[in-house]
Amino acid sequence: MNRLKDKVAIITGGAGGIGSATAERFIAEGATVIIADLFEDRAKEVAARLGPQAVPMFFDAGDDDSVKAAIDETAKRFGRLDILFNNAAVTDVRVQAMDTTPTDIPLDVWDKTMEVNVRGVMIGCRFAIPHILKQGGGSIINTASDSGLAGDNVRLAYGTSKAAVIAMTKYVAVQYGRQGIRCNAIAPGVIMTAQMKKLPVLAEAIFRHVVTPRLGLPEDIAALAAFLAADESAYITGQTICCDGGHLAHQPQLADMIDLEAKGAGDHV
Ligand SMILES: NC(=O)c1ccc[n+]([C@@H]2O[C@H](COP(=O)([O-])OP(=O)(O)OC[C@H]3O[C@@H](n4cnc5c(N)ncnc54)[C@H](O)[C@@H]3O)[C@@H](O)[C@H]2O)c1
Repeated sequence: MNRLKDKVAIITGGAGGIGSATAERFIAEGATVIIADLFEDRAKEVAARLGPQAVPMFFDAGDDDSVKAAIDETAKRFGRLDILFNNAAVTDVRVQAMDTTPTDIPLDVWDKTMEVNVRGVMIGCRFAIPHILKQGGGSIINTASDSGLAGDNVRLAYGTSKAAVIAMTKYVAVQYGRQGIRCNAIAPGVIMTAQMKKLPVLAEAIFRHVVTPRLGLPEDIAALAAFLAADESAYITGQTICCDGGHLAHQPQLADMIDLEAKGAGDHV
């Protein structure tokens, strides 16, 4: 398919698992893609693998000047901006390990999570929208998470930040819809990036609550992002689409019920 022919896209967190898979997919669909990441070396590695339609760029979602510079540079260099995939987030496991509960979380962990995951998305929209409007519209896609749709025993800041992204998605969709900008969010469940593969115990625990035969892959998110970026999804905006193997689609006790049935208690449940 060539649904993104001649489009210019920025993918933030583009050097990561989901970002790089999405860059690969967008390029396969005909787009030029800016791999915008805090770790420029990794962005360069990804771009070298993906070829000349991939352009590495330093980008810090937590720094307004850096966000503006990357977006303005893209528009100047390519003469347009069609797609912004706000995908960067604090995913460092050492930081996430400190992201606990209101009584325990270090406040700097809360602040950093909000700065990158929420303010970073807003600032990305702030500087990209004027460019996107110049060619009559485009598509903004935000990476949310299942964690923004249900509570958990840990990751208070992360979940709260992703809930904010889900709300912001609706506001941007409403505020710029008539001018041709669509804004949607993707809420991944557990996606088996290289980092997640290092946590097999977590993957095993989550798999009990997924109804598909396998856990998610970065390519699953990339396929959905390509659809939301393309004109094919022209009548979809303001939505958050879960890509989570049905993780949030069922009764919370499903896994326990399946275990009970396996133990022969099926007639009683
Ligand atoms: N993998 C999952 O299971 C999962 C589940 C739900 C949501 N998500 C979301 O998907 C998105 C991508 O995550 P991933 O799994 O690919 O993780 P990842 O760690 O592989 O990728 C994240 C990328 O973001 C970059 N980044 C971090 N802070 C940044 C900043 N301030 N500015 C610019 N870039 C920055 C990192 O360098 C990295 O390349 C994130 O928004 C994450 O919250 C992932």
